[in-house]
Amino acid sequence: MRLLSHLPAFFLLLHLPLSLAYTPLSDHSLTHLAPSLSIHTSSLVPDHDFDPVHGALLAPILRPRVPGTEGHARVQEHFAAFVRAHLHPSWRVEWHNTTATTPATGSEPVPFRNLILRRDPPWRTPAQAGGPGKGEGHVARLTLAAHYDSLYRPEGFVGAVDSAVPCALLLYVARAVDAALTRKWEGRTVEDAALEDEDEVDKGVQILLLDGEEAWVKWTDEDSLYGSRALAEAWENTAYEPGSRFSTPLEAISLFVLLDLLGAPQPTIPSYFPKTHWAYRSLGSVEARLRKLGLLETKPRTPFLADSAKESVQFQGYVLDDHIPFMKRGVDVLHVIPTPFPAVWHTMQDDGEHLDLPTIRDWARIMTGFVAEWMDLEGYLPEPETGPTSGTGEKDEL
Ligand SMILES: *[C@@H]1O[C@H](CO)[C@@H](O)[C@H](O)[C@H]1NC(C)=O
Ligand SMILES: [Zn+2]
Repeated sequence: MRLLSHLPAFFLLLHLPLSLAYTPLSDHSLTHLAPSLSIHTSSLVPDHDFDPVHGALLAPILRPRVPGTEGHARVQEHFAAFVRAHLHPSWRVEWHNTTATTPATGSEPVPFRNLILRRDPPWRTPAQAGGPGKGEGHVARLTLAAHYDSLYRPEGFVGAVDSAVPCALLLYVARAVDAALTRKWEGRTVEDAALEDEDEVDKGVQILLLDGEEAWVKWTDEDSLYGSRALAEAWENTAYEPGSRFSTPLEAISLFVLLDLLGAPQPTIPSYFPKTHWAYRSLGSVEARLRKLGLLETKPRTPFLADSAKESVQFQGYVLDDHIPFMKRGVDVLHVIPTPFPAVWHTMQDDGEHLDLPTIRDWARIMTGFVAEWMDLEGYLPEPETGPTSGTGEKDEL
């Protein structure tokens, strides 16, 4: 990443507002939001997800993973195995593979491989959509992204906050909302959907595990963002069927939420973009409500998302990161990255030992709440006391 401080012309781009319902969760749902985290209120209890040595989500990512190396391939396998073991079979798993040369590796092309995990409503997936123009081009997707590659130098760098933890958080969130999405969507058809408010857009969710974010020698427009530049360009040039609500997968991104440099204590996340300050405030209100209910472990001097107290923000500069190729093309962005950066940034100290687990678990709770609200999951979240079956009496699929 690199901090930049001028206002670029593409901020003047306008696009059509969508009608997106956003339903705040009840206190009751917030309480039961993240069942696998609810017991972790003491550092004596091992964390099955985020422990740097044993945590099933995080530990396999905490290794050097320079594109094209063995460690890189192992992390890809971890993601694929996670999806098979923990996500509903209706998630679509797609690799976006490209190659590029870098200033560090000469003429030998380096492979860059983005992983896209996508879950759309079943009545919009090709098998059930019922004809041309009724399918995936009608779904507005909340898009959650983080990069999984690690820096080429220093050798042995594992990039815990940069960005192993953000990747683990995205896996966590996908798993945490998955059963509720199944409950919400099961049994509904394209006809049911059509009977509802026509202005209401169908919502999906996708997770982008991006490759090649890091510069190999020195940050330039060419030596950085290898995976996200290729993906944004490919999606801009992929046309949906005629008659679709959106013309390309790029246009179908309702909000691009990029997580980076998370996992260090006392983060302060500014609201970078006036245009998406409303989304920042939604995230901040989840944090504030969880704190008020005593459901977060950290007790920071200021909230992680302190700018949500402000009605509006001025543009003050931003960080160059994987959102840039998307933002340039008109996509709305919420960048969840602290300024200042954690002290360990791009040093050998950015490792498992320097992580703050209560902060990571609080991020997992906050992000899960935000996604659950965005996807309108009130009434569908599981309750831990009754196991995976919800208290509503609906049958559980998983
Ligand atoms: C793309 O990369 C993934 C991960 O390395 C690999 O499993 C897949 O086979 C590749 N796909 C193609 C078409 O090369
Ligand atoms: Zn980095």
